[in-house]
Amino acid sequence: MTIDFFDDFSWRSFVALIAPGAPDGPRPFEKFHPLWEVFHEDGSAPSADPAANACAAKTAPGDMVLASFSGIHDIGQTADGSLLGPLVAQNGRYVRYLTGYNDVAYRHIVKNQWYLRSHLPEVPVPRPPVPAVQFPNGSVVVKSAWVEMEGFSEAQRKRFYTRLATVRDPDSGKCAQSVVGLVGLHIVRKTASRPQWIWSSFEQVDTVPPAEPGAPGRFTLHDGTDAAMPAVNPLALVPLAKQPVKPFNVVRSAKLPIHPNTMATNAAYRKLLAGSIWSNYQLVLTQWPLAPGDQSIPVAATQAGDIFETFPGEGATSTFSNMAMETFNQSRPAQGCMNCHNRARLGADFLYSVLMHAYPAKIVVPAGK
Ligand code: HEC
Repeated sequence: MTIDFFDDFSWRSFVALIAPGAPDGPRPFEKFHPLWEVFHEDGSAPSADPAANACAAKTAPGDMVLASFSGIHDIGQTADGSLLGPLVAQNGRYVRYLTGYNDVAYRHIVKNQWYLRSHLPEVPVPRPPVPAVQFPNGSVVVKSAWVEMEGFSEAQRKRFYTRLATVRDPDSGKCAQSVVGLVGLHIVRKTASRPQWIWSSFEQVDTVPPAEPGAPGRFTLHDGTDAAMPAVNPLALVPLAKQPVKPFNVVRSAKLPIHPNTMATNAAYRKLLAGSIWSNYQLVLTQWPLAPGDQSIPVAATQAGDIFETFPGEGATSTFSNMAMETFNQSRPAQGCMNCHNRARLGADFLYSVLMHAYPAKIVVPAGK
């Protein structure tokens, strides 16, 4: 089935980006150019100058800074071009987000000076069929989700890919080295046959119930009781409550589970990764532009990324959200990856971060959300 091919593609992307065979040290995706290196507060050209990150940290490729000057941009969950309330893990710490661009995408932004809004082509009226902004094939962009491990039991921690990061406390503005664990990873990859990119999303397996055999039975985003998930996020981004924050339960909607075929592909890859920390990660979904018939025929760039033209589409029976990233966007298929990013299609080839962070940045943070 088509889903099996795309899920296999997602796993291959994941394996390449975490390179389990590599010795200790940063994984390929951690060496991507972080958002703060590309988009500077003052519009200056991309560079890893310490002044460009909110911790003024001196970094080598692969070093990680989880911080933002506003204190909220690395914490808010995403809506259509704006930011929403944060997500808190069971240890009272906020889940932190970081976008990274591979060399192909990074060089393309630098060459075209798309870090400056004045250099981003305006979307003409009438709207053209193909985006004015096009990234080259081979561009890969990731968004990773991390949580500080402090307060989690050893049994829980040891099931995560963990590393040291420089983390900025949003309340005090102070930065400190902290051990963080990877909870979620989005991977988008632009290919010659899919100019709408292929959208893949992974979670650490203890993020939400059900518990896996042999797992500690405690979850990153759920306390293990039968307390329900709130219908709306009880936390506001502005003002942001000081950590530790009282956590709430997150559950994956029973009506929209991980697709059974995806679970079968997961079982096969996790078996291949047995003994590696990466066997504790699973693909939760792939989204791709739908095309009838032979899947090797390239999809035209004129095809958009709305629900009618993407999997799982309007009548979805499987999930289209990552529990650690689009936690409260689980119920309406219109809130899936591609349909939401489709709004950034003509202006930035689906990449919302470019539309929002090109200088001067345009980041809407609705009050009280
Ligand atoms: C409701 C809207 C929405 C949904 C749903 C959504 N995203 Fe995003 N996403 C955003 C916004 C907005 C940003 C930019 C945030 C920023 O830079 O501050 C973003 C950023 C990203 C990035 C970094 C590159 C970029 O576009 O800027 C990736 C990769 C990504 N999302 C993948 C996904 C995947 C995979 C899914 C589905 C599992 C998904 N997104 C679902 C709105 C959404």
